[in-house]
Amino acid sequence: MTITLVAGARPNFMKIAPIIDAIENKKSLGFDINYRLVHTGQHYDKNLSDTFFKELNIPFPDINLEVKSGSQAQQTAAIMVGFEKELQKHPCDLVMVVGDVNSTMACTIVAKKAGIKVAHVEAGIRSGDMNMPEEINRILTDSLTDYFFTTSEYANKNLTNQGVQTNNIFFVGNVMIDTLLKNEHRFKKPEIWNTLNLEEKKYLVLTLHRPSNVDEENQLKALISQIKMEAKDYPIIFPVHPRTKKLLNGLNLNFKNLHYTNPLGYLEFNFLVKHSLAVLTDSGGITEETTVLNIPCFTLRDTTERPETCNIGTNVLIGKDFNKLSNAFSKLFSRQWNKGTIPELWDGKSAERIINHLIEIYKL
Ligand code: UD1
Repeated sequence: MTITLVAGARPNFMKIAPIIDAIENKKSLGFDINYRLVHTGQHYDKNLSDTFFKELNIPFPDINLEVKSGSQAQQTAAIMVGFEKELQKHPCDLVMVVGDVNSTMACTIVAKKAGIKVAHVEAGIRSGDMNMPEEINRILTDSLTDYFFTTSEYANKNLTNQGVQTNNIFFVGNVMIDTLLKNEHRFKKPEIWNTLNLEEKKYLVLTLHRPSNVDEENQLKALISQIKMEAKDYPIIFPVHPRTKKLLNGLNLNFKNLHYTNPLGYLEFNFLVKHSLAVLTDSGGITEETTVLNIPCFTLRDTTERPETCNIGTNVLIGKDFNKLSNAFSKLFSRQWNKGTIPELWDGKSAERIINHLIEIYKL
């Protein structure tokens, strides 16, 4: 069988890496399984894309659709037009999409209209917040998906509530954690460690890129100022996403302990996370990684599509409530943070499970 594997944005790359490895493994054992890698080009900056391919040994994509930026509709439409041509030229048996970015949804729609089955990796997660473009992407993708590969029982339940038949839901664990565990021994000290004389557990890591946090000037200013105040003198390392940079450039937010950097590569970023006192973020994937690395995580959002990171992991939802932020810092500084537990099947073998299921489904 031939799978067309789609990746478009930074959080997709660490999810496809173990899937490609698992396909290659089965292929070398004589199974009739092959793939074609399509990069939509949604993320195109070197440090949001190429670096991840190099660091994670992901093969060069067979094609890059080079859609780049645009409004939600422009970007989605460009991906659809490019991907339709791709599927006409290179038909396949299955399109596999990962995560919840615009590329995930756009390629799912195109595949289904071309009569091709779709497998969605990380299916079923829901934040309940329709203001997030990702939530719309999740719902639309899952309304068309044929094979649902899930990370948690919550996701399974969301899907059955939506009417998905249980025999199409495959609880396999978390491919992002496959990549984390495989590469943990390769994490690399970033230059900023030496420049700032950072010390283990004596600094914080901050990332922000959600439209609700970074598209409005006063909101961003208030959030960063509050974090800076609560963090006392602890250095805060802030790798800045291009979306955030656009607004930050005009804000002149210069504090002694707030250190801006360009987005870091996978190995350097996770080195920083692993040795930090805590992480503050509005990302979803990072809350999964901090849970597995047992690092306290403050989520700067009101909702999460990954409730297991809060219920059993190290994550706590802060949202825009400065009291919650203050309480979380007090707990952190007084060392009252609960040790997290690792969710079921987040064990480094999820991609292998996915490919084993496909081998069964397609009787390879
Ligand atoms: C996208 C995903 C989000 C994911 C995030 C990780 C959607 C709807 N959102 O958000 O789920 O968590 O990626 O990074 O798919 N830009 C660059 N260079 C790039 C890419 C983007 O400068 O390589 C700029 C663009 O000018 C654009 C802005 O960043 O205006 C946002 O990029 P976009 O891909 O639209 O969404 P993200 O905010 O990155």
